[in-house]
Amino acid sequence: MKNTTKLCSTKPIVTVNGKFPGPTLVAREDDTVLVKVVNHVDYNVTIHWHGVRQLRTGWADGPAYITQCPIQPGQTYLYNFTLTGQRGTLLYHAHILWLRATLHGAIVILPKRGVPYPFPKPHQEVVIVLAEWWKSDVEAVINEAQQSGLAPNVSDAHTINGYPGPVSSCPSEGGYTLPVEPGKTYMLRVINAALNEDLFFKIAGHNFTVVEVDASYTKPFKTDTVLIAPGQTTNLLLTANLGTGKFMVAASPFEDAPVAVDNITATGTLHYSGTLDDKATIVTIPPAQNATPLVDSFTDALRSLNSKEYPARVPLKIDHSLFFTIGLGINPCATCVNGNRVVAYINNVTFDMPSISILEAHFFNIKGVYTDDFPRNPPNKYNYTGTQPTNVQTMNGTRVYRLRYNSTVQLVLQDTAMLAPESHPVHLHGFNFFTVGSGLGNYNAKKDPKKFNLVDPVERNTISVPTGGWTAIRFRADNPGVWFMHCHLEVHTTWGLKMAFLVDNGKGPNESVLPPPSDLPKC
Ligand code: C2O
Repeated sequence: MKNTTKLCSTKPIVTVNGKFPGPTLVAREDDTVLVKVVNHVDYNVTIHWHGVRQLRTGWADGPAYITQCPIQPGQTYLYNFTLTGQRGTLLYHAHILWLRATLHGAIVILPKRGVPYPFPKPHQEVVIVLAEWWKSDVEAVINEAQQSGLAPNVSDAHTINGYPGPVSSCPSEGGYTLPVEPGKTYMLRVINAALNEDLFFKIAGHNFTVVEVDASYTKPFKTDTVLIAPGQTTNLLLTANLGTGKFMVAASPFEDAPVAVDNITATGTLHYSGTLDDKATIVTIPPAQNATPLVDSFTDALRSLNSKEYPARVPLKIDHSLFFTIGLGINPCATCVNGNRVVAYINNVTFDMPSISILEAHFFNIKGVYTDDFPRNPPNKYNYTGTQPTNVQTMNGTRVYRLRYNSTVQLVLQDTAMLAPESHPVHLHGFNFFTVGSGLGNYNAKKDPKKFNLVDPVERNTISVPTGGWTAIRFRADNPGVWFMHCHLEVHTTWGLKMAFLVDNGKGPNESVLPPPSDLPKC
């Protein structure tokens, strides 16, 4: 724990090596990474390497009770994994409780030695981690919410590399400074590590060229605003072409249907070398909190690079066609304020965490931990994006969906209007997937697939399902193990918007889950 002062108040936070955000992990494609985690805090801890494929090494993936039991206070665990065929920006974060609020950092995977970027080499690379800050203890915030059955308090500020910048509750708060030299091009590796907020990122007077998302190269395109959902990363080229001056850097929330007011903008400064400190900063107005058209056009512009070196291997023949509804519901709770609690679901299943990890139960054939009957379609049909159904209750279960090794999956994620339509950044562990289509309203299984992009759809690990709409993704189940899938808004994960895929071992010599390391924590 480390005492940290922000927004004019001090609290102890959980960190990696005393830093917020944590230290950047720098490696190269195909490197093997060893991270020894020693738990010096009073909480159980796990760390997830978000977007690292973990081919056959699910034991190092990190989600508590899915692939490992937590590292208890005083214990140690060595995460050991290889960055096979991956390069780009990812992030690591705690994957238990709400510890990732402060326990997170960047993963920078450089291309193999001698392999250039598919764009001109930038003068310098800069990691930019966006996050959220609560004045109160974050675990207390979610515990209170769980007891009342209501939504947790929203954060008090957003941060850019740990700095909120001046806000009305603390005008003396400092902001992040990005020093640049005139004429040079920078690559910003921007990460959204926030718990519960999609964030816009902007710099006054400057444009960006998007070149990569979620550690997959994209066709370059120009924009003055980017939208990054929690768990997503975006690499931007920024040319410092204004010569001199100071320009505002801004990170502000996007909420399509704002349920709570959380519209505080984190601000920093892009500072040209040679510019006097007292020169006024050119400001930028952040997009409206509900600037949905802007988000839609940004999302639509994303395409995978699909070059000879980096082809988009979109599965064309589909073995498993799945349709999952996602949203919020209500379950009875005698001790809660309204006699019920807010929950969340996939196909009406609110996921219950097991008491040992599903991967261990699968590997050692331990019965009674999970069932493999996760529904491939919603249990009841209704107009998902119309008026909400009369029954908004969900069922509970620790259910997984089973996939044969190397089978192909098409998964349509349909947002629902149950309680409130909301956009959900859904993250899949263990795979990258292709976003082949998306739209508003209800998915139409006859018409919509005709419009799918099977040529150069963007490849990523976290995708925002639009508010009152749907997204279709495809992936190949070429990674045996147990792979969590959940909404990356931490409040929705807590409420149960999560499930797991179980990919069976293949028959080949390199097609099964490797044995667990001897220091795998016990529950
Ligand atoms: Cu970045 Cu399962 O999370």
